[in-house]
Amino acid sequence: MVKRETNLVRGGLQRSQFKETSEALFLNSGFVYDSAEDAEAIFKGEQTGYQYSRYANPTVEMFEQRLALLDKSEACFATASGMSAVFGSMMCQLRAGDHIVSASALFGSCRYIIKEILPRFGIEVSFVNGKDLKSWEKNIKKNTKLFFFETPSNPCLELIDIEKVCELAKSKDILTIIDNIFASPVLQSPKDFGADIIVYSGTKHIDGQGRVMGGAILTSSKFKEETLKPFLRHTGPCISPFNAWVLLKSLETIELRVNKQSDQALEIARMLESHSNVEKVNYPFLNSFNQFDLAQKQMRKGSNMISFTIKGTKENAYNVINKLKLFDISNNLGDTKSLVTHPATTTHRILPEDERLSLGITDKLIRLSIGLENIEDIKNDLDLALKY
Ligand SMILES: Cc1ncc(COP(=O)(O)O)c(C=O)c1O
Repeated sequence: MVKRETNLVRGGLQRSQFKETSEALFLNSGFVYDSAEDAEAIFKGEQTGYQYSRYANPTVEMFEQRLALLDKSEACFATASGMSAVFGSMMCQLRAGDHIVSASALFGSCRYIIKEILPRFGIEVSFVNGKDLKSWEKNIKKNTKLFFFETPSNPCLELIDIEKVCELAKSKDILTIIDNIFASPVLQSPKDFGADIIVYSGTKHIDGQGRVMGGAILTSSKFKEETLKPFLRHTGPCISPFNAWVLLKSLETIELRVNKQSDQALEIARMLESHSNVEKVNYPFLNSFNQFDLAQKQMRKGSNMISFTIKGTKENAYNVINKLKLFDISNNLGDTKSLVTHPATTTHRILPEDERLSLGITDKLIRLSIGLENIEDIKNDLDLALKY
C-alpha cells in the first residue's frame, strides 16, 4: 500500500480515454446509454455506469476517493457545503422520536440545526459540556441515536476526548458524528479513535485558497450504501463537479499547506502568550493549554487556528482587528491568506449572550487563521496592531 503523500497526489485517479495527466473535469449533469437495455441494467444496478450527477460523477468520485484515503475512512460522499454535510449526516438516519446529544461548544449554524431545526421534526436534543464524559453519560436516554461534537471547537479550540466519547457511544449502540473541520484530515484522524462519521467543510483547509464551497461525509461503506446514499441522492445536496475538481486538486498540496500553517501558528501563539496586552491564548499545542495532554494524544499539530483574549474592551479588540494590515477580516478559515475575525459579533452572533460568555466567546476574543505569508511579516503585523 502506498503512503499518504502519494495518495494525496494520485489517490482516486481515473484517466479517461484521452490519457490526460491532470484529473479531468467532467462538468456534465447527465450521461448517455448505448441502448434502452443498458439504461435499464444501469438503473437496476446490474451493470456499472453513471446515470446523473446528482447521484454520482467521475470527478466527484475522484475527490471522494482521495479524501477517504487521507481521512482513513472507507467511504466518502461529497456535498455542496460543510453545512449540508452536517445536516445530511444527521437527517439521513434520524426520525421523529429519536434523541441526539451534542456538545454545546459548536459553530453557530451547527447549533442552529440541532437547537432549532431538529425539534421541528420531533427529534429530541440535549446539549452537554463536551469535555465532561459524565455529562454525556448522564444525558443518554433509551431513544438516543447520535452523539455530535466538534474538536477543536470553533472558536475557543476546546478539545473533546474522541476515544472516550466514542467508546461510551459504542457501548450504548449510539453513532458518533465528529465535525473535524478545525483540525482538518491532515492533523487529526477521528477514525483512529472510534468515530463512525466524520464531516468536513471543503471550503476550509481542503480548498485552502478561498475559492469554492464544498463539504464531505466520511464513513463506512455499509453506512454510505445503506443509509447515506439513498437520502442524499434523493434530497440532492450534491457538490458541483467543478467545485469537486478544485477540491481534488487542492488535496495535492493540503499536507504541505496545513503543516506549514500550523508550524507558523505555534510560533504566533507563543508570541501572543508573552505579549503584555494579551490576557489568554487558546492554542492546543501550547504547554500552558489546559488540555495539552489530550491535544498530544489525538492531534498531530495544534492547527493553524488560534484565538486569544486581549486586555481591555471590545473597542480595543476592534482596534486591533482594524489595525492589522496583512490579515484580512473574514469569517472563513484555513486559507493560505491570514484571516482575522471577531466571533462574538459574526460567526457566533446568534448564540444567546449567557451561552456565548460561558463558552469564553467574549467581546475581547479575537480569532486568527494563520496563512502562508512570511512568519516575520505576520509577527510584525500583530505586534504593531497590539500596541495600544
Ligand atoms: C466548525 C464548522 N462546522 C461547519 C462549518 C460549515 O461549513 P460551510 O461553510 O462549508 O458550510 C463551519 C464553517 O465555518 C465550521 O467552522
